[in-house]
Amino acid sequence: MNYIESLQKRYSVKKFNKEKKVSPEILKNILEAGKLSASSLGLQPYKIYVVESEEMKEKLIPAFRNPSQITTCSHLIVIVSKKTMEEKYVDGYFKHIAEVREIPLESLDLFRKNIDQFLNSVSEDELLHWNQKQAYIVLGQLIFAAALEKVDASPMEGFDHKIIEDVLGLDKDTETAAVTLALGYRAEDDHFQHLKKVRKPDDKLFKFL
Ligand SMILES: Cc1cc2nc3c(=O)[nH]c(=O)nc-3n(C[C@H](O)[C@H](O)[C@H](O)COP(=O)(O)O)c2cc1C
Repeated sequence: MNYIESLQKRYSVKKFNKEKKVSPEILKNILEAGKLSASSLGLQPYKIYVVESEEMKEKLIPAFRNPSQITTCSHLIVIVSKKTMEEKYVDGYFKHIAEVREIPLESLDLFRKNIDQFLNSVSEDELLHWNQKQAYIVLGQLIFAAALEKVDASPMEGFDHKIIEDVLGLDKDTETAAVTLALGYRAEDDHFQHLKKVRKPDDKLFKFL
């Protein structure tokens, strides 16, 4: 199956087969795809929480308007994005680059200056949105990888942030639950799988210049 066929087969699942779990090997591959996601300036202003225990899923159910995906999924991924960008966080990022690439920290001075200039030029609100946008890039990559692994998925942002943040024990001043992705295998009686895909026609979607 080529990747376009995989993407045509994927849909946002409303009900998973509760008995079928995503194997650790396949889950690892999907998460690796999320890890390899691009992020602006490479800052990765997010963490990827993987909820696999039934006990934890149970606690998260009240957060969702329509919890049918949560009650049936194999794993629930919550992409938690930073709200802020503290100097300490950026320091850690640069230290990490220097270690991984085995280069002196000072060789990154110009890059650091550019990042600091950018961070000083944005408001708190802009920073929050910018961080969240990075989380959505991860989401797209996870959805794509899941489709290639023949794992079904359901992205969801219709949830009560406060409940998720309380259950996950997030620091509300600095982090927020940006978006979630349930993973598993479609239930036979999830009729959404039989619906035709609705997408804009090419002439309304693409513009070649
Ligand atoms: C960021 C994002 C958030 C979404 N939130 C929800 C949601 O809260 N509940 C839901 O049932 N579907 C949600 N969806 C699924 C969309 O409704 C779905 O992707 C769209 O209708 C296209 O259908 P398809 O994914 O089945 O091709 C979300 C999708 C995205 C990308």
